[in-house]
Amino acid sequence: MASREQFSSKAGFVMAAAGSAIGLGNIWGFPTQTASNGGAAFVLVYFVLAFLLAYPALMAELIIGRHARANVVTALRSISTGPLTYKLASLAGFSGLIVASLILSFYAIVAGWMISYLIASVSDMLGWQGASSWLTSDSFQRNVIFLAIFMMLTMGIIAKGVAGGIEKWSTRLMPMLLILMVGLIIYVLMQEGAEEGLRIYLLPDLSQIKPALVLDAMGQAFFSLSLGVGTMLIYGSYLSEQESLPRLGAIVTVVDASIAFIAGLLIVPAIYVAKYYGADIFTAGGELIAGPDLIFQILPVLFDSMGGVGAIVAFAFFLLMSIASLTSSISMLEVPVSYATEESGASRGLATAIIGLTIFVISTVILMNFEALFGLVIDLTTVYSQPLLGVMLCVFVGWIWHRDNVLKEIKKGHGDIESTLFWKIWPGYVKFFCPVLILATFIQSIIG
Ligand code: PFF
Repeated sequence: MASREQFSSKAGFVMAAAGSAIGLGNIWGFPTQTASNGGAAFVLVYFVLAFLLAYPALMAELIIGRHARANVVTALRSISTGPLTYKLASLAGFSGLIVASLILSFYAIVAGWMISYLIASVSDMLGWQGASSWLTSDSFQRNVIFLAIFMMLTMGIIAKGVAGGIEKWSTRLMPMLLILMVGLIIYVLMQEGAEEGLRIYLLPDLSQIKPALVLDAMGQAFFSLSLGVGTMLIYGSYLSEQESLPRLGAIVTVVDASIAFIAGLLIVPAIYVAKYYGADIFTAGGELIAGPDLIFQILPVLFDSMGGVGAIVAFAFFLLMSIASLTSSISMLEVPVSYATEESGASRGLATAIIGLTIFVISTVILMNFEALFGLVIDLTTVYSQPLLGVMLCVFVGWIWHRDNVLKEIKKGHGDIESTLFWKIWPGYVKFFCPVLILATFIQSIIG
């Protein structure tokens, strides 16, 4: 068997896994969910759940992945113990491939918008009004063109493989993201109106903590850590046996949660700065205008208010969004591509081209039936499939895979694991708490 690719260093893995985790979910999803769920109380619950629930589930994926050293389908099959669990493994694995691809099909559309706004900020600086207004108006043509550009970037990186593609680009792009974000926060916090946003973001009103808020926070934590679809599993499979998985998983969780927190420091005050400048940030029903609309309706008000520097700040912001999207989208595409290369023996380039093109076609179909399909695909994948697949992975680690084998894998790179708090708590945790709590989210999202 040809030697399998691997991340070249611990830092490379952390950049790639954090790059997958950090995306539109952190920079857009988390702050808007915070703003529409009563502010700081949501932040508090989110942090508790990220560590108590999402971190244990992330560990399940990393451990299975590194043990099996294979894509999600093969990995789950390899720890199955009989015909029934083998079937369950195939079901969960193939669902993971499909869901990861479908997440990419909507994610790439939104990421395409980010790129078109990025270029619009440049044409603004050059005074090309016609180009700017085409780039910022919703049209099928524009959407398909920028979708194609974003998919080509994603495919270009994935075709290059693990160390030369995923790791190299994540390591370049992630520090850039942090620098841009800190620069933007400093600017926004100096603006009129920012203080009101900051207060809402940082001072929790505990009476806001209701079941719906908890469930939203849990879904957000799963989406944000890219859980359930085999992304973290495949990244774990590229990790050396010398590394301690509980430690690396903890670093990724802390980094992801911190970036979400920092993004909130930027976006929530920015919403209130935009309000100060006269933007309508609430619907007639008193709800915050959420989703992609908020970015494209409110932030331009903020950028316009800045005069000459507005276009530069807009450029920095949309560059940030584009980069964050790209380091996430590559991790989604890696899920089906790793399966195709490992199972069919196809070359990475060919597998990337065929799967990337297929996803592009699916995205185009979504664009042609936008009203009917866009929200539906998002709900089907993130609200329903991700939590359910998360349960499956916890079941595999907690109930199907033998505990001694789990211990053997986790001991690699962490010799004294048995005496740690992690080993005392985690096995029972993924066995009972995680499935029960995730199922509760799932059921709630169906009946809610
Ligand atoms: N974690 C990404 C974000 O927060 O934007 C989204 C994501 C990436 C979801 C990869 C699923 C996935 F497999």
